Amino acid sequence: MTASFTIAIDGPAAAGKGTISKAVAEALDLAHLDTGLLYRAVGAKTLEGTPAIEAARTLTAEDLERGDLRGPEAAQAASKVAVIAEVRAALVDFQRAFARRAGGAVLDGRDIGTVICPQAEVKLFVTASPEVRAKRRFLELSAKGLAETLEEVLADVKARDERDMNRAEAPLKPAEDAVIIDSSTLSIEEAVTQALKVVATLR
Ligand code: DC
Repeated sequence: MTASFTIAIDGPAAAGKGTISKAVAEALDLAHLDTGLLYRAVGAKTLEGTPAIEAARTLTAEDLERGDLRGPEAAQAASKVAVIAEVRAALVDFQRAFARRAGGAVLDGRDIGTVICPQAEVKLFVTASPEVRAKRRFLELSAKGLAETLEEVLADVKARDERDMNRAEAPLKPAEDAVIIDSSTLSIEEAVTQALKVVATLR
């Protein structure tokens, strides 16, 4: 493996990219960065009154360890701050440095293959129907005791898709050379196997 080997995994909310990224990183012994967490941390700080751009420019490692980043409020707030060009710009250097770290890295997000790391050796775009994604997220949230109905989760997924895909700055879309994995009818294991097969052909 070359010193810097980057795997970019993009896709809409709850498509399974987090799980796939973690599994791929583990299987290949690569570092993993969930870039959504950066936006969630910025979003969570705005809910406490910090202006978004300031929150992004002063983000610390501790901010990423907050316990409330996985909930629906942080998700919606993340999607809202993610439309702000200055917020995105403040997070670019950290992501690029991570992508090029020695030993290789997997980054998952919305714009990794298109904006953060267009030169990534492997680009995957993991997607699934909104209904399938909402059901998965619903089960995940219920397991954590975070009460939301399936209808609420579906509405949340659709609202974030709409915002993430239609923003002017780094909208969610597959890179031209990304390999699409539609996980609608795949188990986690099947999706991970597909992802690892693609990596094996491009390594
Ligand atoms: O991947 P996630 O659901 O944790 O992301 C939360 C939000 O952050 C998502 O709705 C849009 C934004 N985001 C982004 O704009 N760019 C990224 N690379 C990652 C996340």
